[in-house]
Amino acid sequence: MRAVCPGSFDPVTVGHVDIIERAAVCFDEVVVAVGQNSAKNHLFGPTERVELMRAACAHLPSVSVSPLQGLLVDFCRSHGAPVIVKGVRSCGDYEYEVQMAQWNKELEGIETLLLPAAARWSYLSSTKVREVASLGGDVRPYVPTAIAEQVQRRVAELRQTREE
Ligand code: PNS
Repeated sequence: MRAVCPGSFDPVTVGHVDIIERAAVCFDEVVVAVGQNSAKNHLFGPTERVELMRAACAHLPSVSVSPLQGLLVDFCRSHGAPVIVKGVRSCGDYEYEVQMAQWNKELEGIETLLLPAAARWSYLSSTKVREVASLGGDVRPYVPTAIAEQVQRRVAELRQTREE
């Protein structure tokens, strides 16, 4: 069976990769859906985030990565995946994800499995990685090695633009 792991992944963190790796153990194939969250200020554009995710998942042969436009349930249907897998870190995540899961079940009958985040990554979020990086902190422990340099470079570019 095929499952979809959706998110905006801006940038992908080691916590995201942990969830994708665990989903890949449970399902024959995993498709990572890289979408937009209109409430978030994106650091990387949609195509860049797909490329970064591909680099982060290069070690996982049963995992593919595609851009998500429109409804997630339409993405699931067109990729032949009846199940969504999402990670949850906290009660806040849970409340948000349960509502999304109920919508996706209601709209198209797609089931959602929620995986508890690994305890060691439960404080980690892309938002905090962006904040720490933008204030000059070292985010290399929190993003996949394959993309760490690109994250540091993009943040440095943005800081320079802001200072000019
Ligand atoms: O990184 P995020 O914020 O968890 O990613 C959210 C994302 C992109 C997975 C979510 O916003 C999404 O599923 N967008 C597609 C639109 C959709 O299907 N919405 C649910 C129906 S209300």
